[in-house]
Amino acid sequence: MTAQILDGKAIAADIKAQLKTEVDQLLEAGKRRPGLAVILVGENPASQVYVRNKRNSCEQAGFLSELIELPASTTQQELLERIDILNKDDAIDGILVQLPLPDHIDENAIIEKIDISKDVDGFHPYNVGRLTLRMPNLRPCTPKGVMTLLERTGHKLSGLDAVIIGQSNIVGRPMALELLAARCTITVCHSRTKDLEEKIRNADVIVAAVGIANFVKGEWIKEGALVIDVGINRLDNGSLCGDVDFESAKEKASWITPVPGGVGPMTVATLLENTFQAYLNRV
Ligand code: GUN
Repeated sequence: MTAQILDGKAIAADIKAQLKTEVDQLLEAGKRRPGLAVILVGENPASQVYVRNKRNSCEQAGFLSELIELPASTTQQELLERIDILNKDDAIDGILVQLPLPDHIDENAIIEKIDISKDVDGFHPYNVGRLTLRMPNLRPCTPKGVMTLLERTGHKLSGLDAVIIGQSNIVGRPMALELLAARCTITVCHSRTKDLEEKIRNADVIVAAVGIANFVKGEWIKEGALVIDVGINRLDNGSLCGDVDFESAKEKASWITPVPGGVGPMTVATLLENTFQAYLNRV
């Protein structure tokens, strides 16, 4: 079997074009734009790229975009005060603090400071709790974007065995909740997992978010599986690759996401969807 490519770049472009149309209609009706504030602390090069992509996409869709770049020396108190100002700013519907933060800042304290109605990352314990209880409001962007991709395959997810590799708060855990809500049977694998290869061999859906280049081999993949690659790894030659060995995996999967051009653009498009949702909830 040679897999069909799940073209996240094209699907994300559709979503952004649709949002732009809706924003244009709002503006014609005399309403304000949806607004997203992104805070970047320090100079992590990968974060700088992600934040630039988020800002460009916001502007393409006609959203108000506010970028707040702070030095790595910013104190936790200063960052909390910045968030407080944005919480009270009526032009801002979504607040995103790019992670990771410098070591001297407690990420949980920062996430908990964001107003739950502006938590477009869906990382606040309130929004994670809502997702857990199957009453979602703002849902974490990468897992929600993955669900959009899986829906586009037209495959029925109910009853499938899904293996998630990675247990982070940003991807693995909320991904498990999303797939559970879609009535998959979930296995979440991590560094202590026994017989990982065996678990992958039995999976109908594989979501790889492990951060190791070309970790998942085609020979581990069940014929016809849906393969979602969340990894973005830079090789020594400067090129990007995912957590799945794409060339061998595409011979086994029925659908597969490429890297780049798969999950990455969907995370950004979903952030805009969430900001639009937060805007509609607030006006
Ligand atoms: N760092 C890596 N992914 C993300 C994300 O989705 N949101 C935030 N805030 N930081 C990230």
